[in-house]
Amino acid sequence: MKTASCVCLGIESTAHTLGVGISTEKKVLANAVAFYRSPPGEGMLPRKAAEHHQEKIKEKMEEALRVAGKKIEDVDVFAFSQGPGIGQCLRVSCIAARYLAQKYEKPLLGINHCRAHLEISMNETGFTDPIFLYVSGGNTQVIVREAGEKERGRDGASVEKYRVLGETLDIGIGNLFDVFARSLGEGFAHGSTVEKLAGEGKYIEMPYVIKGMNFSFSGLLTHAQRMMGKEKKEDVCHSLMETSFAVLCEACERALCLTGKKELIVCGGVAQNKKLQGMLAEMCKEQGVEFGFARNEFNADNGAMIAYCGADYFARGKRMKLSECFARQDWRVDAL
Ligand code: FE2
Repeated sequence: MKTASCVCLGIESTAHTLGVGISTEKKVLANAVAFYRSPPGEGMLPRKAAEHHQEKIKEKMEEALRVAGKKIEDVDVFAFSQGPGIGQCLRVSCIAARYLAQKYEKPLLGINHCRAHLEISMNETGFTDPIFLYVSGGNTQVIVREAGEKERGRDGASVEKYRVLGETLDIGIGNLFDVFARSLGEGFAHGSTVEKLAGEGKYIEMPYVIKGMNFSFSGLLTHAQRMMGKEKKEDVCHSLMETSFAVLCEACERALCLTGKKELIVCGGVAQNKKLQGMLAEMCKEQGVEFGFARNEFNADNGAMIAYCGADYFARGKRMKLSECFARQDWRVDAL
């Protein structure tokens, strides 16, 4: 069944990124982003990040509308990242979408940030029935479509429900690299800093923790921090990355074998890591599985994926009451 095309303006503000995207349910039209950068060696202060997002939102909205060639009146629905994320940051997109919806008398929709990563990755890769490895700062999960799901009815490319097969029992993989890089005194772009140093190092044995399809990284972090000063930092970075990615490859391999699925997507901020992409590609080749990922701009946090999901929801008739418009910090993808 064909649905009428609608235009959605989506706002992302779960953590350090403020994004405004414009999309129909088929195509992304604009993706404007601004990143909050914490001072070198320091973590992100939620209040500071939220202030940054408030300051940038007008500029990024204007940029997105200009790039998409649309006026605010052309927008059919406003979408916002409802969770999971940092409360103070989430409230920026929530309040902005609520204001816009009321001012322009248009509907609004709250979008699960994780689901938006999964859905835009499916759109980008063209995969229809994948296992997902979702890797970001705060999240690391192996996810599959739940059996008996209701299809969207368009290319069979979307689903109603997701199930988490395996996940981190403590910190997310992005957080592992961020905290480790900060202990080196490195600044923003922590993951890429560790990736750069890792390229020049050699392997030293590190703790390898996997329990079924769940895994743990906090012991690995402590071990790596204790090795600093005793070993070359390039070697520690290399071994930290090699070990943590090997754990993720094993969890994905188990998920593929268990479910018999023939496609694997890696998505989320850490999915941009070339080393991880290479290791997963190798594992998939051995398993006879297709491997894919979205372009970097859609793996980093962005408003386009929120807009894309919002347009899709709207076209399928989903609506939200104003009273349901609030931040959901711990909103899991399997609780939709
Ligand atoms: Fe994300």
